[in-house]
Amino acid sequence: MQVIPSILKDSRVLLGVSGGIAAYKTIELVRLLRKAGSRVDVVMTRAAEAFVTPLTFETLTRQPVRTDVIEQWTDAESGHVTLAEQADIMVVAPATANTIAKLAHGLSDDMLSVSALASPAPLLLAPAMDHHMFLHPATQANLATLRDRGAHIIGPDDGELASGIIGHGRLVPPETIFGAIRQILGQHKGRLIGKHVVISAGATREPLDPIRFISNRSSGLMGYAIAQALVDAGADTTLVTSAQHLDPPVGANVIDVASAADMYAAVSDATSSADALIMAAAVGDYAAKDVGAEKMKKSDDDLTIELARTVDILATIDRPGLIKVGFAAETTNLVEYASKKLVSKGASLLIANDARQAMGSDDNQAIFFKPDAEPENLPMVTKHELARRIVDELANLIDRQSS
Ligand code: CTP
Repeated sequence: MQVIPSILKDSRVLLGVSGGIAAYKTIELVRLLRKAGSRVDVVMTRAAEAFVTPLTFETLTRQPVRTDVIEQWTDAESGHVTLAEQADIMVVAPATANTIAKLAHGLSDDMLSVSALASPAPLLLAPAMDHHMFLHPATQANLATLRDRGAHIIGPDDGELASGIIGHGRLVPPETIFGAIRQILGQHKGRLIGKHVVISAGATREPLDPIRFISNRSSGLMGYAIAQALVDAGADTTLVTSAQHLDPPVGANVIDVASAADMYAAVSDATSSADALIMAAAVGDYAAKDVGAEKMKKSDDDLTIELARTVDILATIDRPGLIKVGFAAETTNLVEYASKKLVSKGASLLIANDARQAMGSDDNQAIFFKPDAEPENLPMVTKHELARRIVDELANLIDRQSS
């Protein structure tokens, strides 16, 4: 199977750490990036070194940490400007008020500000500072200047600050910065830039009364992995989800739903402007005909509940030019049922899998069904790997449609 690397694999992230207590949180960011296969080069301000030692970052990144502009002039191979020029993205986290001011005004008196000035890569800033410093008109004006220049700014969050006061100025979590890096890299080099894709995920819940529902065992993991792969590919991603227990990818437009009817309404609305729809949700095929307004009371008799068919969302939504991708979750006769679903749902790609194996698992073994092609058996891979493969197939379908 052709391996589709993640957007982070072998990407070069230049991380600028400025001097705030939140500097320690960037250690986790580096760990996440390294685990994902990125090369991370760290530049630190002198003040940052008071909070975290360069050795910590050197150990994690396996790269020398740059702190002094003058020293680096002798290092011909990877001097300060080279690093900045080779980066795919520059991230400043935490970005203190002082560093933000320097970047807004183009100062270059330390390694971090020199790098930012010398780097043509997209710039992501994660501010962290005292509440009043953040709200000061000078900081706000500097952030507006940077934003106008195309910088991406994430956070800060509300919460308890180092000073002990509750306010606006906390660094966003490392996972959020990590997600924003993926989104920005995708927007610069993904295959689906400018395309809008709707992805559904999770098991729908069909209410019986205010506290009971009928549902299924789908975890939502496959749909969320696809949503992440879509963001990584630079797509404008709408995630219609009934799996609210999972963290959605940073950058996806999330629409929370519960029942099949809610999902139909949300998907129908979102696809009016979409290039593609991927239905990864396990949609309930039946819903209670009458939903009690109050809690049902038990009696000594058995209970019969009358169920009515829900809308088949994938089969029903049909817009000119909309590419449809579906799943077939089967426990038997997989090839026969999946081939039929490909046709009955009007899908351009149908991913069939053994429901018992796939549900709740991190891995998935799938078969791709496409019109006029032999089924393609894929090996057992992680859901993230399969998601990238599905998004790549979708990009092929979109390319073919527009050629
Ligand atoms: N699907 C849908 N709306 C429904 C039911 C299913 O859009 N009401 C979509 C699913 O999201 C999936 C595809 O249709 O992409 C196939 O779903 P699956 O549950 O495998 O099959 P069903 O169509 O429900 O048929 P059956 O339950 O008989 O296998």
